[in-house]
Amino acid sequence: MNPLRVNLRIACLLFIGLSGGCQNSFMPGPEAENSYAYEQNTRLGRGVNIGNALEAPVEGQWGVRIKPEYLVQIRQAGFNSIRLPVRWDAHALTYPPYTIDTVFIHRVDEILAQAMKLGLRVIINMHHYDAMVMNPGAEKNRFLALWRQIAEHYATYTDWLYFELLNEPCCNITSEEWNTLVSEAITVIRDARAERTLIVGLTNGGGTDGLGALHLPRGVANIIVTFHYYSPFVFTHQGAEWIPGAESWKNVTWEGTAVERDRITEDFQRTAFFALEQHLPVNLGEYGAYGKAPYDSRVTWTKTVTTEALRQGMSMHYWEFCAGFGLYDTISGSFRKELMDAVLK
Ligand code: BGC
Repeated sequence: MNPLRVNLRIACLLFIGLSGGCQNSFMPGPEAENSYAYEQNTRLGRGVNIGNALEAPVEGQWGVRIKPEYLVQIRQAGFNSIRLPVRWDAHALTYPPYTIDTVFIHRVDEILAQAMKLGLRVIINMHHYDAMVMNPGAEKNRFLALWRQIAEHYATYTDWLYFELLNEPCCNITSEEWNTLVSEAITVIRDARAERTLIVGLTNGGGTDGLGALHLPRGVANIIVTFHYYSPFVFTHQGAEWIPGAESWKNVTWEGTAVERDRITEDFQRTAFFALEQHLPVNLGEYGAYGKAPYDSRVTWTKTVTTEALRQGMSMHYWEFCAGFGLYDTISGSFRKELMDAVLK
């Protein structure tokens, strides 16, 4: 191993330990072949997921239909980007050539056009592709065919549009399979546009558990790694109707004690260290606490996580805009101030 790299790593680790942060400028120059991805990650900055909309089986079915004014409000509040979860597989043929429904893709086009006009960068992903995570072998051709169509359709869209391969790879997708799928998807997408910045998640559900298992193909750059953070889960998901057993988790607070904070700091340092070794910039693609958690605790936790992500030079996307975790209250037509400050200040 190159001694320069070793020294830089030690310096960086010390830096992480002492100050809690290792900024991109600490990346070893000569080996930082992924430097464009760091720039692209910095441009993502702070953002929000527009969740429960296009990843519902049909937009509106989960209570959110994206209105142009939402994007305006997001931009005016100071966000740099949005993550747009999309359930492509619900709008495509289940047999070859797996054609994506034209009306649906035009709806995505419409939102992208609004975002671009406002100067918001956008990540589109593949979300809630349940068949894929349950049966990756059988679904692989369809997964790649969907990406081929998306990549070709958006081939002329420049660096403000990012693709994230799959939300929270989990269940029956092994790390080995995921590494192969990532490599194949990169080839398919970059056939359509070689410069596309790609975002890759971690197996085992997208959290820090999957760190270390991701092996990207050699010589491939312009990749950002993403992870999701919802720890402690009994706090962030208390009362969540879609999590078995969570309805009995009630009034769990998060006070921001030294022990609680240290736990978060350690998780973020571990993630930053893994990424540093791999020359990968990091996106925190989802973090948030459900609306049934005590509001003050949600604010304290969110502020703590935002601060950790910033210290580690990560881009971040709060989960989510106006549904159960919402930053924005559609009834009053305004943001929840304390939560917004926890994300943006
Ligand atoms: C899921 C959402 C869920 C959120 C928090 C997301 O990845 O798609 O359905 O609300 O995580 O659990």
